[in-house]
Amino acid sequence: MSLTSAHRTVLLREAIKALAVGPSGFYVDATFGRGGHSRAILESLGPEGRLLALDRDPQAIAAAREIRDRRFMAIHRPFAELAAAARESGFSAVDGVLLDIGVSSPQIDDATRGFSFRFDAPLDMRMDTTQGETAASFLATADVQEITEVIKNYGEERFAFQIAKKIVAARGERPLATTHQLAALVREAVRTREPGQDPATRTFQALRIHVNQELDQLALALSQALELLKVGGRLVVISFHSLEDRIVKRFMREQSSDNLPKHLPLRSSELPLPCLRLIGKPVKASNEEVAANPRARSAVMRVAERLAGDAQRRAA
Ligand SMILES: C[S@@+](CC[C@H](N)C(=O)[O-])C[C@H]1O[C@@H](n2cnc3c(N)ncnc32)[C@H](O)[C@@H]1O
Repeated sequence: MSLTSAHRTVLLREAIKALAVGPSGFYVDATFGRGGHSRAILESLGPEGRLLALDRDPQAIAAAREIRDRRFMAIHRPFAELAAAARESGFSAVDGVLLDIGVSSPQIDDATRGFSFRFDAPLDMRMDTTQGETAASFLATADVQEITEVIKNYGEERFAFQIAKKIVAARGERPLATTHQLAALVREAVRTREPGQDPATRTFQALRIHVNQELDQLALALSQALELLKVGGRLVVISFHSLEDRIVKRFMREQSSDNLPKHLPLRSSELPLPCLRLIGKPVKASNEEVAANPRARSAVMRVAERLAGDAQRRAA
């Protein structure tokens, strides 16, 4: 287990400032990881404040249990179940929700998890190792079309079809079980090279997103966060690639405008009220942060504040 391996928290100061942590507020860190953001939130909370942390990775939750603080609780739950997890924990309306999505360094750097082709390991890629289909079992049973769609849609890979055909042909000879087997097949199928990037990068990203249903999870978490936030509460989302950021951007935009065609024969009092107000522009890591932690390069943080709005109608 890699409980102690480090995760360098991205946009730490920026996220805490964006959450506008008040001493007696209730907050949810829906992606505990190794707790960089959670610890900073706890430092800003007074004795009446509370923090609930979620993570779907049992190792992250084991790390969270090392925090002994009566204001803090951590539960092993996917953030697609954010609203239920919060209500069951006594957090019926909260002052802030933080999502710092994607994988943590301990997950990528743990050779046994199968997230990285740097290590030869079983093709697992599940964040929640207690349930669900592994990448190996998906690749063992899916047909060429299903594999192509995953690699194309989630990896934006031009050679998705060629990769899928290679996978299906290869598994007829012997099971496709390890990261190095898959990476070798992908390198044979991808005919062009992107500077500074292994040809297997896009395929590994795609499989990870598929295995963990990352985009569906995100969409569910966003609408549940809206339900959970008090008026004035903050939603802070850090994402690491354009597929995720597009979902966050669209959600915040839709919820922050009346989102109706113009020129409808409606009085302004009849228009649904927006539920969110965008706070500032998208935030990127500073040059200093990127120099110290190259993973921060692709991070984008978006922030919005809950308005009274018409949440039920919009989130439905
Ligand atoms: C980038 S790390 C978070 C790092 C954390 N902010 C810190 O400072 O240590 C992302 C974490 O989110 C978790 N995660 C990703 N998708 C999740 C989901 N759908 N539900 C719950 N946790 C999820 C991962 O297991 C991982 O631990």
